[in-house]
Amino acid sequence: MKNIVILISGGGSNMAAIVRCAQRDAWAEKYGAQIACVISNKADAKGLVFAREQGIATEVLDHKAFATREEFDASLAALIDRYDSLAAPALVVLAGFMRILTPAFTAKFAGRMTNIHPSLLPAFPGLHTHQRAIYAGCKFAGVTVHMVTAELDHGPILAQAVVPVLPDDTADALAARVLTQEHVIYPRAVASLLSA
Ligand code: GAR
Repeated sequence: MKNIVILISGGGSNMAAIVRCAQRDAWAEKYGAQIACVISNKADAKGLVFAREQGIATEVLDHKAFATREEFDASLAALIDRYDSLAAPALVVLAGFMRILTPAFTAKFAGRMTNIHPSLLPAFPGLHTHQRAIYAGCKFAGVTVHMVTAELDHGPILAQAVVPVLPDDTADALAARVLTQEHVIYPRAVASLLSA
């Protein structure tokens, strides 16, 4: 089995979309892949509830318990390794995981770690993407799935989806429109990596 480990920090709706897609499209039979674990850096992340309901193993690793970013990332990497399958490298899927990663961590999972970012990269890396797109007068916004490299919100683009920015849009309204597309493209992008 190819083990997929999904990292979240909050609602986990992208993680849920991936889990549902894996069930619906029988990733176990099709790709020999399973969602082995959902890890959150926050104990109260709502997504953990969904994962547990689905019978998926969950882990919490609170970043506040670590003195440095390096120590947290080293423990996180060790935790992920526990779900690394022997037969094939695990895919690490960042789904609303709101942490800046150290170079050692990104190097360790190079080529097998993906992220979803709510903008049309390379535009608007970082935070507050929707408000920044509205302030900039963008007529279109969207979402990007990319491989993770050492540089924040960079790395080879796997998939993008575009939505219109409507007159009088608020950041929340735009975020909700983008999120519906996130749920479409992220499972698809993961599936195409598994089938490659
Ligand atoms: C999503 O919009 C995702 O693109 C974004 O956080 C949200 C998480 O939602 N990620 C980032 O901003 C990463 N820089 P979810 O927890 O419901 O999937």
